[in-house]
Amino acid sequence: MEKNLTVKYQSKDVEVYIENGLLDNLTKYIDKEKRYFILTDENVKELYLDRLQKQLKNSIVYVLKPAEESKNIEESLKIITNMLSKNISKNDCIIALGGGVITDIGGFVASIYKRGIKYINIPTTLLAQVDSSLGGKCGVNFLVNNQYYKNQVGTIYHPDLILVDPLVLKTLKKADYLSGLGEVVKYGLCFDRELFEELFTDFLIEDVIFKCLKIKADITSRDEFENDIRMTLNFGHTIAHAIESYTNFLIPHGTSVAIGMLYEVSDELIINKLQTLYNKLGIIYNLNFNKSDLIKYIEKDKKITDQEINLPILIKIGQTKLIKIKTNDFLRGI
Ligand SMILES: NC(=O)c1ccc[n+]([C@@H]2O[C@H](COP(=O)([O-])OP(=O)(O)OC[C@H]3O[C@@H](n4cnc5c(N)ncnc54)[C@H](O)[C@@H]3O)[C@@H](O)[C@H]2O)c1
Repeated sequence: MEKNLTVKYQSKDVEVYIENGLLDNLTKYIDKEKRYFILTDENVKELYLDRLQKQLKNSIVYVLKPAEESKNIEESLKIITNMLSKNISKNDCIIALGGGVITDIGGFVASIYKRGIKYINIPTTLLAQVDSSLGGKCGVNFLVNNQYYKNQVGTIYHPDLILVDPLVLKTLKKADYLSGLGEVVKYGLCFDRELFEELFTDFLIEDVIFKCLKIKADITSRDEFENDIRMTLNFGHTIAHAIESYTNFLIPHGTSVAIGMLYEVSDELIINKLQTLYNKLGIIYNLNFNKSDLIKYIEKDKKITDQEINLPILIKIGQTKLIKIKTNDFLRGI
């Protein structure tokens, strides 16, 4: 059965629809006569592009190499060059069809192309369905001294529409599915105890996706530009971004978040409970990192200001708050 959310931001209302099989029913949601610039990656193109194209009268496709290596400023400029050469106008619309890499770079390009054109997110990974497709954060990685640093350039710019078809998750690789579950655990652990407990049972993924999106919708609509409570969504991310950069993105984002949360929870009982949940879900967490190696990446984190860090901390399962802490105290604690 279709689930729907309307998320009210200052700049626009964003409509979200979740339905099994939605991908074959696109014209229920979008105007097939419009011209679309579809941004996708090689894997998703093979699996799903045909299904979109046969329902749309006029679409142009741009295909990126899969994964994080494509989410950077250089690729964004190539996409823009292609859009200009195809005369994509303000009346046309981008469709970002793919995982978080595609929804992030698609949103970023949409936000700067001709000072902003419309875009629709069709997220195809669990991580993108529960998290990256909503909230308008569109960051790309930036190369400094031969090393890419995460999301150093970006905008907050919302899609008009988010179309979620949970059935596409069936083709995901296990590692990518587990990465999405890392973010799902974050939503339960930090904001919704019932959801956290549900993850120990045989849950229905479409219900879990809806619950995560409702939490994100509530938080991001109350603090669209990340001045306070939105930062609590970054729980586990300070360590996670450092792990991603340090391992050159070998460990996927959501899995890095799952590991980061273990570093950032201080209560032993909750750490044990989290580990039990990771074991049940199949999330691998017992990787040992040299802390001093992570520190140089943590220092590049956007949340660090003047030797202080805005850090979400867990009060209890289902409740998180934001504190300011001296960077050195934080680094000593990990
Ligand atoms: N903007 C935000 O608020 C936000 C939030 C969380 C994460 N992110 C970003 O999201 C990115 C990670 O996203 P991701 O985990 O979706 O990675 P991804 O986009 O790289 O996708 C992972 C892999 O899955 C493949 N894939 C996608 N859909 C598939 C399907 N249905 N079947 C089979 N294969 C499929 C892709 O080709 C890719 O190889 C990171 O860059 C992270 O920083 C952004």
